Amino acid sequence: MRVVFLGAPGVGKGTQADRIAGQFQVAKISTGDLLREAVRNQTSLGLEAKTYMDQGRLVPDDVVIGLVREKLAQPSCAKGLVLDGFPRTVPQAEELGKALAANGMALDRVVNFQVSREDVVRRLSGRRSCPKCQATFHIDFAKPKVEGVCDRCGERLVQRNDDRREAIETRLKVYDEQTAPLVRYYEERLLLSPVDASGSVDDVFQQLLQVLAAYRPK
Ligand code: AP5
Repeated sequence: MRVVFLGAPGVGKGTQADRIAGQFQVAKISTGDLLREAVRNQTSLGLEAKTYMDQGRLVPDDVVIGLVREKLAQPSCAKGLVLDGFPRTVPQAEELGKALAANGMALDRVVNFQVSREDVVRRLSGRRSCPKCQATFHIDFAKPKVEGVCDRCGERLVQRNDDRREAIETRLKVYDEQTAPLVRYYEERLLLSPVDASGSVDDVFQQLLQVLAAYRPK
């Protein structure tokens, strides 16, 4: 199973990608996670990416494409994968198609997560993340057991720099301009399945299981 999770920032792609990857025991590739790891490790790539990320702009295509190519070649991706947050531009989608084909693979499905703008802003502005283990919480929808503390590792939760209001506005604008065209791109290739992601995490997960059951290779 090889799927792309597409959708505006904050629609819940990462939350569901973790669950689906766990359920089907497939790899998850999140370019956001990979880039944040590079920022934490202060690699030259991370230092370059940080300025873009903090402002809510996209990191240049060649940087993210290089990261994904490296991951795709790893044995852990042979059994299947969920791509979370990649591709985000038409050139990225084209390169993904080529990279998969070079490894004898193709996409089975692209899931388009749909949530109203209002809900997306609420989800993003209330998100709290663990800087140590990267677990994600929400101040209303996915509260940690102890306020402000990570359930998994006990670290103090933080708000991502790009979850502040100005950065959220930029991210949504960037999504409209550069990522939304991928809806049409994948529709034309008959790969797109819309999912109403406005319900609870469990509701969305059940919908995803149905979509993936219909398109998973037998
Ligand atoms: P990235 O980390 O990919 O950010 P994003 O796409 O903006 O996605 P988010 O992680 O913000 O949201 P999500 O949809 O995963 O939602 P989540 O599950 O966390 O990218 C960050 C930056 O890196 C980009 O801005 C860019 O600079 C760079 N970058 C990354 N990929 C790139 C690429 N391909 N090209 C160029 N640059 C790239 O959920 C959000 C919140 O809502 C959480 O608090 C969660 O608990 C809550 N929630 C989830 N589901 C529900 C639900 N059903 N009901 C209520 N609350 C929910």
